[in-house]
Amino acid sequence: MFKGKITVIGAGNVGATIVYTMVLSGLVSEVVLIDINKDKAEGDAMDMNHGLCFVSPVRVIAGDYCDIKGSDMVIITAGANQREGEKRTDLLKRNAGIFKDIVDHVLKYCHDDTILMVVTNPVDILTYITYKLSGFSKQNVIGSGTVLDTARLKYLLGEHTNVDVRNVHTYIIGEHGDSEVAAWSVTNVAGMGIEQYCTSCGCCNSLDMCKETFYNRTRNAAYEIIDKKGATYYAIALAVRRIVESIIGNENSILTVSSLFEGEYGISDVCLSVPTIVGSEGAERILEIDFSEQELLGLRESAGKLKQLAKEIGF
Ligand code: 2OP
Repeated sequence: MFKGKITVIGAGNVGATIVYTMVLSGLVSEVVLIDINKDKAEGDAMDMNHGLCFVSPVRVIAGDYCDIKGSDMVIITAGANQREGEKRTDLLKRNAGIFKDIVDHVLKYCHDDTILMVVTNPVDILTYITYKLSGFSKQNVIGSGTVLDTARLKYLLGEHTNVDVRNVHTYIIGEHGDSEVAAWSVTNVAGMGIEQYCTSCGCCNSLDMCKETFYNRTRNAAYEIIDKKGATYYAIALAVRRIVESIIGNENSILTVSSLFEGEYGISDVCLSVPTIVGSEGAERILEIDFSEQELLGLRESAGKLKQLAKEIGF
C-alpha cells in the first residue's frame, strides 16, 4: 500500500493528537510536525518516536518549513486563541494574518498538487482564506468542516437506535459552528428513513423532540467539552485521520469536508460543508442532494453568515 508523507503545522492539542493518530494509522511513512515552539514539537516527536517499535514503520520529525518538501498533504492546526474580551472578528483578523505567514512559507516548499487541509477554527473562513492566499485549485484546499459534527450526530443516533454507528447515515451540513444544519431528510438506517426506523422499533415517543435534542447536543458538543476539560482534540484527530485515509488511498469516500462552492445549491465564493467525494485530488465533487426546503434555507443562511464575516475582515 502507498504510504504518504504528511506535514502538520501547529503542535497544540489538536496538532499533536493528529500526529499521534497518523502514527497509529499505518497510512503514512513520515509525519513532519512544525511549531513556532520548536521544543514542543521536538518533545512530541521524541515521545512518539520512542513508541515506534509498537507500530508499523513511520517516523515523526520535528521540522522546519523546508521539511514540507514531498508532503502529500499539509494540515494546518496553528492559530491564535481568543483573548479575553476579544471580538470574534478581531480574532479572525489575527488568524488571517497568521495564515498569511503560514501559507507563504508552505507555498515555498510544496507542489501545487499538495492537498492543504485547514483544521484551525473558524475552519470554513480560514479554508476560504487559505484557498485565496494559495492560488491552488479549489479541490486542493479543504477544511475538516463538519466531518466531526456529522460523526457526533451519528454517535448520538447510534446510541438512540442501538445500531452500529457505522450503519447510521446522516450529515451535518453548512458551517462548522452555530449555523450548522442537520440533514434529517437524508438520515437513514439501512435505507429506512429515520422516522420509519424509529416508528418500527418504538425507540422514542416523539422523534421531533429527539431530533431537536440531538441537533442541539451536536451543535453544542464542543462548548460542553471545552467547559469540562478546556479543549477538544481526540475526535477531531480521528476525523482528520479519516479524511487523510480517503485522500492517501484515493478512496472517493463521501465526507462533509469544507470546500469552495461555485454555484452548487445556488451558493458561490464561500467554503462550507456538504457531502463531497474526497479522493487523491482532494474535494473532487460537491454532491447536490435533494435536501428539504428548510435544510436548504439553513445552508444558504450559513453561507450568507460566512460570506459576511469574510467580508468584514477584508476577504
Ligand atoms: C470542535 O468542534 C472546537 O472545532 C472544535 O470540537
